[in-house]
Amino acid sequence: LLQKQMLDKVEFVTLLNSFTKEISQYLYEVAREVSKKHFGNKIYSRGLIEFTNYCKNDCYYCGIRRSNSKVERYRLNYEDIMNCCRNGYALGFRTFVLQGGEDLNYTDEDIVNIVSSIKKLYPDCAVTLSIGEKSYESYLKYFQNGADRYLLRHETSNEFHYGKLHPKELTISNRKRCLLDLKKIGYQVGTGIMVGSPYQTVENIVEDLLFMKELNPQMIGIGPYIPHHDTPFSDEKTGSLDLTLFLIGILRLMFPNALIPATTSLGTVDPNGREKGILAGANVVMPNLSPVNVRKKYELYDNKICTGEEAAECKECLSNRMKKIGYEIVVDRGDFVQK
Ligand code: 5AD
Ligand code: FES
Repeated sequence: LLQKQMLDKVEFVTLLNSFTKEISQYLYEVAREVSKKHFGNKIYSRGLIEFTNYCKNDCYYCGIRRSNSKVERYRLNYEDIMNCCRNGYALGFRTFVLQGGEDLNYTDEDIVNIVSSIKKLYPDCAVTLSIGEKSYESYLKYFQNGADRYLLRHETSNEFHYGKLHPKELTISNRKRCLLDLKKIGYQVGTGIMVGSPYQTVENIVEDLLFMKELNPQMIGIGPYIPHHDTPFSDEKTGSLDLTLFLIGILRLMFPNALIPATTSLGTVDPNGREKGILAGANVVMPNLSPVNVRKKYELYDNKICTGEEAAECKECLSNRMKKIGYEIVVDRGDFVQK
């Protein structure tokens, strides 16, 4: 794996079915070395702005799905978002991630207006969008107006499994079309999966690894699946921390210079989950910049961390956590660099 940066399907299935504590430890050491080689002890940070929890979709795993009538819905307006950025810039963030449900209340013009304003006020910052499936034309407009990156997890590359997680109106073919469009336009593209999502098999995960190798994304976000009490999957079990960490290690070897976050869901299933993610090969953290009064309402899964803390507190908390394990959060856009 280290030499070829790839295994075949059978080899991956065998590895994922039979890894031990010793093998994991060894993988993490090697993955960490690869990260160190490309990034030193530097960790990139992204300021996450969860600007709307309205969503037209109804994904069975997600707490803000449209059928969840118990969620109190909110939208941040232009001023709210710019305030988050001002606060974030002062805290040292040089990437802003605008993430939301698929909320058609924001037109393409609204998105363009927000993106171009951020870029104009903060020319040394990158803007990442994470607003779901759109047309080629929409993606192109955002890009031409300054959006640098786009996050869109494929969730699972297997059509049958995709159908188990989503209502019929969502298809894996359109999801893949979006990812290819984004790449073609020139975005730095991020994709990824939930580890341990309902009905997921080891073979599915291996298919995801092969799909990602083919897509060759610049960013890869994975985290354990965590049930939300008001979804059809409320009784399903939480994804495995160890398997998530193991996959982060594998992804680091497959994509030596990719940007791989230690996600909030990792931090939710284990108090030191994000540190463990970094020590398994991740190199990015994404603290929340949303106003505290909306945090709790963007609950994709139960017990999500950092819903009561101010942005400054999370920044400080994460800086300390990284320092403790020998890493340092830097003031940097943290772009993907082709080697
Ligand atoms: N548990 C873990 N991750 C989730 N996501 C959505 N719902 C859950 C959940 N219940 C992830 C999806 C999505 C990202 C924004 O959050 O992978 O792409
Ligand atoms: Fe939010 Fe620690 S990162 S409280």
